[in-house]
Amino acid sequence: MRILAIETSCDETAIAIAEFTGPKAVPRISVLSNIVSSQIAVHRKFGGVVPNLARREHEKNLTFILERAFKEARFSNFKFQITNHKQIPNSKIKKIEKILEREPELFERFKKHILPLKKPGIDAIAVTYGPGLAPALWVGVNFARALAVLWDKPLIPVNHMAGHFYSPLLQVEPRISNFQFSISKQIKNSKLQIQNVSFPTLGLLVSGGHTELVYAKKHGKWKIIGETRDDAAGEAFDKVARILGLPYPGGPAISAIAEMKLKVKNEKLKITLPRPMIATNDFDFSFSGLKTAVLYLARDLGKKRTKKLRPSIAKEFQNAVVDVLVKKTIRAAKALKVKTVLLGGGVAANHELRKRLETNLKKELPNIKYLIPDTRMAGDNALMIAIAAHFTGKKKAWNKVHADANLRLSR
Ligand code: KG4
Ligand code: ZN
Repeated sequence: MRILAIETSCDETAIAIAEFTGPKAVPRISVLSNIVSSQIAVHRKFGGVVPNLARREHEKNLTFILERAFKEARFSNFKFQITNHKQIPNSKIKKIEKILEREPELFERFKKHILPLKKPGIDAIAVTYGPGLAPALWVGVNFARALAVLWDKPLIPVNHMAGHFYSPLLQVEPRISNFQFSISKQIKNSKLQIQNVSFPTLGLLVSGGHTELVYAKKHGKWKIIGETRDDAAGEAFDKVARILGLPYPGGPAISAIAEMKLKVKNEKLKITLPRPMIATNDFDFSFSGLKTAVLYLARDLGKKRTKKLRPSIAKEFQNAVVDVLVKKTIRAAKALKVKTVLLGGGVAANHELRKRLETNLKKELPNIKYLIPDTRMAGDNALMIAIAAHFTGKKKAWNKVHADANLRLSR
């Protein structure tokens, strides 16, 4: 099955085309194209993602990125030709105009760039329908609906967190060096094997909007067994970065500065931060108190000393987050007797978390399988949406798919 996948839940506009062959449970995947266009530069000056700006950027970029995805895919036999769009019935164009009535700029671009394309050889269009920022989600959903109507293809609505859950299944060989997520470089490869997962499986999903421990009995049957009661782990990284005067997104900035060699002279101060909820018997998390602890620490230290001590503060903060995440994940894996542990979400790019989760799992649960995503698959992308669609997708008519900003993983 050939899937075109679209992801616009937050601040990345992403489109991927992937083909799945072989057994459904352990397919082989050909990544025909995989494009992620990041809006970080747009949001950075505001210190975080501005929903309406994200919406506008998606609206501006989608048709261009789709064209790029088609161009990229063509080298592996993707059939794609320009046709005369005068053949498209007027009733169809009217229907598309109605679907895109709230995205007039996108409709104009759609008419110019998408209508002339020949119907591509894809079997379904997968699209993230939640959770995420409502205005951003709707652009992607409406774009997918318009494509479904234009090409008479079914839609597969995909939960964004299911995408993160499945992201570690694509194990990319290190020799594929051009597996780059950017507008100009994508993965180009022959077939890659998708890793097998043994159920029950536990997923630790850590992103900018979510921190959850998800138990899966089988493909598509999820239960959130624990989650954050306030800030998500990625959100805490972003907020602490702001307190320390580091740029958005905070995760990469904090982990980079935490790895710096400490060259602080005459500073005897030992920085210690709390590990919230580390000892509680549930599988929940809380990171807002930790952020506040950093805020008070920075206030007490003053601007100059905070800046000087930034590497130590960043390191201790990162350790605190990782300690809690690792401890609770291992406790849950033991309690639920799972066979596989998966790590996913933007924070899964964090080296300390990857290293410590792996080391501790090997030590405490040596017989379970542990899969982490390639760091380039940790953040938002559309390839993970295609993979989630392969395993759990249900084809639907275009008018049965709606954005749901508060969608949760469930059975
Ligand atoms: O999954 P994602 O790309 O978007 C959401 O769905 O939220 O996650 C983005 C989050 C941001 O909060 C970012 O600071 C965090 O992932 N992040 C990291 C790292 N790279 C990204 N957090 C910690 N360490 C990193 N290396
Ligand atoms: Zn995400």
